[in-house]
Amino acid sequence: MRHQKSELFPGSVVSSIFGSVASVALVVAVLGGALGCAPPSDPPVADSSPVPAEPARLPVSLNDVMAALVNHAADPIWIAAWHDPETDEEWRDLERHAYQLELAGALLEMPGTGPMDDEWASNPEWLRWARDLRSASELAVAAIEARDQSTISSAGDRIVEVCEGCHFEFKPDMPTGGKFGEISPNAADLEDDEE
Ligand code: HEC
Repeated sequence: MRHQKSELFPGSVVSSIFGSVASVALVVAVLGGALGCAPPSDPPVADSSPVPAEPARLPVSLNDVMAALVNHAADPIWIAAWHDPETDEEWRDLERHAYQLELAGALLEMPGTGPMDDEWASNPEWLRWARDLRSASELAVAAIEARDQSTISSAGDRIVEVCEGCHFEFKPDMPTGGKFGEISPNAADLEDDEE
């Protein structure tokens, strides 16, 4: 029986389990202190060397922002330039997309998880394109709210210039994440829909 027991609980495993339990207890004690579980008679001491805050970082790569948000939100605005929304619901949807594009411009000012993101988001030229995307989209939001087709169209033109300008300067030949966005629909696609 002794023999069996020592096979079931070999000394090294037992001691390493106890070792882990001991370190978990230590971590809990330390965290407990840090989280303010110390008795009130023991006021927290101001930390003279604060840990520097991590810069705000998106949970996805900028390539994902591009394929999932920028591209997706821009298409309906370009479509609207030659094909006015017909119902109130379509107008509201278009307005949401324009807001999404404006927000996407703001997101592009932050690095995400992509290999080039830190470099891009700290480059002043990149930041200028991102802000241009925001302001062109803001123009689109206002034009859509006013249901002003010619301004929607010129905001759409401005947006294209911003996409192309930034791609010309920064976009690698192959997307870093290996993700391709969908190709923007063109007038011919829309005619097919209507047939
Ligand atoms: C601030 C710069 C910038 C702006 C503005 C910008 N892009 Fe991008 N875009 C990039 C970069 C850089 C990549 C490649 C990212 C990578 O590979 O990690 C990219 C990738 C893409 C992709 C991924 C698929 C592909 O072809 O590689 C699509 C789709 C895309 N952009 C569409 C757009 C559209 C549409 C707009 C305008 C509404 C736009 N982008 C505006 C910089 C920008």
